[in-house]
Amino acid sequence: MEHASDVGLYGLAVMGRNLALNILDRGFRLCVYNRSPERAEEFLAEHGAAYPGLCRAASAEELVAALARPRRLILMVKAGEAVDEALLQLLPLLAPGDVVLDGGNSHHRDTERRAALAAPRGVHFVGLGVSGGEEGARNGPSLMPGGDPAAWPLVRPLLESIAAKTASGEPCVAWMGPGGAGHFVKMVHNAIEYADMELIAEAYQLLRSYVRASHDEMRTVFAEWNKTELASYLVGITADVFGVMDEDGEPLVEKVLDSAAQKGTGAWAAEAALELGSPAGLLAEAVFARDLSALKDERMGASAVLGGPKAAPTGERQAMIEDLRRALLAAKIIAYAQGFQLLRRASAEWRWGLDLASVALVWREGCIIRSAFLERIAEAYRREPGLPNLLVDAYFKALLDQCMPALRRVAARAIESGAPAPAFSAAVAFYDGYRSTWLPANLLQALRDRFGAHGYERVDRPRGESFHSEWK
Ligand code: 6PG
Repeated sequence: MEHASDVGLYGLAVMGRNLALNILDRGFRLCVYNRSPERAEEFLAEHGAAYPGLCRAASAEELVAALARPRRLILMVKAGEAVDEALLQLLPLLAPGDVVLDGGNSHHRDTERRAALAAPRGVHFVGLGVSGGEEGARNGPSLMPGGDPAAWPLVRPLLESIAAKTASGEPCVAWMGPGGAGHFVKMVHNAIEYADMELIAEAYQLLRSYVRASHDEMRTVFAEWNKTELASYLVGITADVFGVMDEDGEPLVEKVLDSAAQKGTGAWAAEAALELGSPAGLLAEAVFARDLSALKDERMGASAVLGGPKAAPTGERQAMIEDLRRALLAAKIIAYAQGFQLLRRASAEWRWGLDLASVALVWREGCIIRSAFLERIAEAYRREPGLPNLLVDAYFKALLDQCMPALRRVAARAIESGAPAPAFSAAVAFYDGYRSTWLPANLLQALRDRFGAHGYERVDRPRGESFHSEWK
């Protein structure tokens, strides 16, 4: 075809539209398709003049026919059934060597199932983690492709071109690994996003109830924190949120109902951590904290029944603010440590060969959890690719030495005064568990052996030997 398009994009909701404009800005010829045709017509009417390389397909057949071969087709539809429907519609039309990329937040097992469906036709299916929300899609997202490795050279120039760039111009995209590796990495990104946000929310709660900080002060505090090791997109936008007023001049955030929603990726990560036996209590608590918040009506009822202390203001405002900064930093390190530990565990289990330094590098720009210290995480894994956990890396250990006392004070104070701080508390518990030479798991083993003859190992015998005793 004379004017064959370089790329096809299926699905023109907000993320799809913004990604389409990003692709066009990079000089690719793009053909777009949407199930309800009006959206594609509107898109062409709005942008056709600015982008002569833009075309619209009225059907999946037209979309496939418009693409240069091997075809590169990005699905930007809602995760779940819509991906299956699109793939089933496209597969009979595609030829060996074509590539389909799923840019939604799909479950990694669904991605593997879809790849197995595409493989017999010689079609490469790629699970493409895309992060950065609407702005990221438009200006450069962080991209986490994974799947059939034969697809990487075919999509690399496109993905490197549309991805976010670091200050030194490196694109925030790398091949993650085979199977569902790309979507798994994106899922863990989201779990860390949940944890980062929950920790920020707990810090806000404590600033509000102990420090009795005004919203203007909180805006300043977060803006100042954003100049420290905490520098990150989420801390920056938190400062912005405190500065927004409702029509009546009151802070808009206080008008927002305290019942958090979620689309499931955080819960999937917690499930994966349970399945793989990778301790991730802080990541899971961030999901449960949203679940608990969503029980708004029950909480309202229980508040009239259950007693407990009430948070009182602290006398030491500046000291408390600095404690909160340090607590946030320590807990954030622990959240990332759990996320990277989960990636390491999954990679070992499914032989993905994940390069954890490269994961950290891909998250430096474009994505929601972009932050200054991802560079440090990359350095840690570059120094020691087999690092068992980020907590024992020299840089993070030194930061934890500085910040753990503050995290303990903050968590203890929250518990004493009845302020729920599940993520801060879970962070302390993980840190202390991970540094323990002894845990009371010997009693668990004894009890298991007592009631179920499950057997136990002995401290005075080699590992792997199983013993059973009569405990009665
Ligand atoms: C991103 C985001 C994005 C979305 C998640 C979380 O990286 O751009 O993670 O994918 O925010 O789906 O959404 P929920 O909070 O609704 O689960």
